Amino acid sequence: MVIARTIEALREARASLGGSVGFVPTMGALHEGHLSLIRRAREENVCLIVSVFVNPTQFLEGEDLDAYPRRDEADIKICELSKVDILFMPTIDQMYEQDELCIGAPAVRGYVLEGAKRPGHFDGMLQVVMKLLNLTQADRAYFGKKDAQQLALIMQMVRNYFMGVEIIPCEIVRDSKGLALSSRNIYLTAEEKKRALSLSQSLKKATEMVMAGEKSTQAITKAMETMLESADRVEYVAIVNRAFEPLQEVEIGNTIILVAAWVGKPRLIDNVWI
Ligand code: PAJ
Repeated sequence: MVIARTIEALREARASLGGSVGFVPTMGALHEGHLSLIRRAREENVCLIVSVFVNPTQFLEGEDLDAYPRRDEADIKICELSKVDILFMPTIDQMYEQDELCIGAPAVRGYVLEGAKRPGHFDGMLQVVMKLLNLTQADRAYFGKKDAQQLALIMQMVRNYFMGVEIIPCEIVRDSKGLALSSRNIYLTAEEKKRALSLSQSLKKATEMVMAGEKSTQAITKAMETMLESADRVEYVAIVNRAFEPLQEVEIGNTIILVAAWVGKPRLIDNVWI
C-alpha cells in the first residue's frame, strides 16, 4: 500500500494503477460503516483508493473540528488489512490555498435539513469531494446512505458538472442494537448510548407504520417525536422524497425519513429509505 501525503505522491501512485479504480473518501477514525464501503469498493474494482482527510471547510465556526477523532495509525493498519492500493492522507496545505474558487450547494436542496442547521457545511463538503474526485480519477466512488443529503448533493454535483465518476450509494451499518455507526459515537456514555437508540427505534416505528398502511407523514412524524423524547434535543424529523422535497404522504420507493438529535455531547443523524 502506498501512503500518499502530497498531491504529487498521489498523482504518481495513481498513474501506476491499471484497470477500474474504486474510491472511498473518509474523515478517518475508521469503523465498520467505513469498512463496508471499503469492502464493497475492493470487490467491485481492480484498484482501490481510500482518503483520510478531516476537511476543515465543512466544519462551521464552533463545530468539533479540533476535537474530531483522529486515529491515523489505526486507519493505516485497517487500510493495509483491507488491501487498499493507495491511502491518501494529505495535509490541509496540500488541499487548499488562500482565496479559493468555491463551489456552492444548490440554493434549495443544499439549505434544508442538515443544510439549514449547518449553513455552509455542504459547500465545504462538495468542495473537497470535487477535489478528491478530480485527483483520484476513480471510476466509482462509494458513499453511505447514513449521510443521505450529502449523498444526494454529491450525485447532483456529478450530474450538474458532467463528471465521469459513478456514485455508488451504500447501506447504513448499525451495531447489534440498531445504533447507526458514526465516528462521533465514541463520545456517548453507556447511558447516552441507550438513549441514542431512540433515533433508530423511531425510524423502525415509522417503517412499521408505513408497512401497516399509514401514509400520512404528519401521523408518522408525531409518533416518531414521541419516541424521541429520550434524546436531549431533537433538531428535526423530516419525511422527504429522494429530491429532498417535503411529502404530505409517503411514496413507497421515493421516500427518505430522517432524524437529527443531540444525545449528550454529539449530534447524531440517522435515516431510513422507504
Ligand atoms: P465520514 O463521516 O468519515 O464518512 C465517510 C463515508 O462513510 C461517508 O460516505 C459516510 O456516509 C459513510 N458512513 C459513515 N458511517 C456509516 C455507516 N454507519 N454506514 C454506512 N456508511 C457510513 O462523510 C464524510 O466523512 C465526509 O463528509 C467526506 C465525504 C469524506 C468529505 O469530507
